Amino acid sequence: MKRIAVYPGSFDPVTYGHLDIIKRSLVLFDQVIIAVLRNTMKKSLFTAQERYDMLREVTSTLPNVQIEVFGGLLVDYMKDKSAIAIIRGLRAVSDFEHEFQMALVNKKLDSKVETLFMMTSERYLYLSSSMVKEIVTFKGNALNFVPPYVSKKLEEKLNLN
Ligand code: PNS
Repeated sequence: MKRIAVYPGSFDPVTYGHLDIIKRSLVLFDQVIIAVLRNTMKKSLFTAQERYDMLREVTSTLPNVQIEVFGGLLVDYMKDKSAIAIIRGLRAVSDFEHEFQMALVNKKLDSKVETLFMMTSERYLYLSSSMVKEIVTFKGNALNFVPPYVSKKLEEKLNLN
């Protein structure tokens, strides 16, 4: 039986931090489904389709990765995909409280659901999609944080070229 994990998120947009977690998850699971949340609570810069397209592009060389847009409850989606674990990246302690809460809520909703936290690699400790958006808004160089394709999309979206 295939060991499937789901890596859910807003991915607004995908960063090198996300890609690091995706690559490391692929060592542990037979298949990783990257699940892009359709309507995020936070207002997103990119549409779900745009976020999906960027993920498609930057993971095109990775094997066993599938990208989907999802809505509704994550635990229902997990069941639908027969996935055994939710993957979440953890950066600083500041992430912990919210992540812990989500993991416990998901466990309460479905006791079979496991959440696996992966420590971010040290070099991405400070990195977040919001930070990247801010950098590009103020015409900074984001190429250390996101792939060139994503950087170009950010510049287009923010009308910087
Ligand atoms: O990248 P993000 O914005 O931190 O990801 C948050 C995400 C997508 C994991 C979370 O909002 C989520 O799972 N939403 C789906 C709705 C749901 O299941 N909510 C209850 C558990 S928190």
